[in-house]
Amino acid sequence: MSKKVLLSGVQPSGKPHIGNYFGAMKQFADLQEKYESYIFIADYHALHSLQNPKEMKENIINVLLDYLAIGLDPKKVTLFKQSDISEHTELAWIFDTITTMPYLMRAHAYKDAEAKNKEIDVGTFNYPMLMAADILLYNTDFVPVGADQKQHVEIARDTAQKFNNIFGETFKLPEHLILKDVAIVPGTDGRKMSKSYGNTIPLFAEYEEIKKCVMSIVTDSSEGIPKNVYAIHNLLRPAEELLPLYESKAGKYKELKEILIEDLEKFIAPMREKRKEFEKNIPKLLKILKKGGEKAKKIASKKMEEIREKVGVKIY
Ligand code: ADP
Ligand code: TRP
Repeated sequence: MSKKVLLSGVQPSGKPHIGNYFGAMKQFADLQEKYESYIFIADYHALHSLQNPKEMKENIINVLLDYLAIGLDPKKVTLFKQSDISEHTELAWIFDTITTMPYLMRAHAYKDAEAKNKEIDVGTFNYPMLMAADILLYNTDFVPVGADQKQHVEIARDTAQKFNNIFGETFKLPEHLILKDVAIVPGTDGRKMSKSYGNTIPLFAEYEEIKKCVMSIVTDSSEGIPKNVYAIHNLLRPAEELLPLYESKAGKYKELKEILIEDLEKFIAPMREKRKEFEKNIPKLLKILKKGGEKAKKIASKKMEEIREKVGVKIY
């Protein structure tokens, strides 16, 4: 029996943090054997927030390095770049024509921008349509993402269903894969860890940076167990092991933070070193990405032929 299809992507919008890793990226590596996996770099998605070509290029290469450093094996996973496959933007247009404005106005990104009285660009408003195209072109079964992307996968599902209703059975309905225990990784201030809050622990941090981040974790002095320190620590060690430790050191925040620093270093150092090795041969890595793109293109263009036929624009 052929394997089920898994697909996910990350935007080249800056350094990944341990929230991205435990919330989404770790699953890419853990599941690469089990599923036929497509993992891509969502560069066109990032364009709405990153309009600096030099930085864009650097960030794309950085995501590729991140993917390889977390253990994605190009022999098992098709790694590619969204902008190499023009079918993604083509299909997004078709989805735009069957989706209503009020429906997209219910999406989080739009609602957040509206709540902040921000003028939203059309790309951000349409963002879920491009993401639906990313997912649906590959007959995807599962989409591993962090909890904040759940709504986008649901939109992809709705859009598939809507297209199927209008033009006949064409798309599989995808499902999200969200790890329950780590649905939202908290940052150093207890809010969701996010690049935009400046409360992250970078995934490939050097020792000194880890130290600085951990020392800045906000501790709640009214409890013996500092919950923000514990929550991050719990990503690395199970509760059975951590609870006795935290109980025996109740109130000793500095000591607990020092243990967390060492545990983070143990976890991060091998990936960080691996990333440095990969960095020595960027041309070779670009070949991997290009080759992955060629494979993805074959699948996407075949699917797109079927879609053009279904909507009636294919006349020869
Ligand atoms: P950020 O909020 O830092 O900009 P992104 O929006 O680029 O992160 O998210 C990339 C992926 O990482 C998504 O799948 C998202 O759901 C996941 N993710 C981001 N932050 C967290 C977090 N704090 N906990 C769990 N998953 C997260
Ligand atoms: N929107 C996702 C994020 O910000 C990135 C993304 C784009 C994605 N297209 C996708 C994730 C398709 C999964 C599947 O993290």
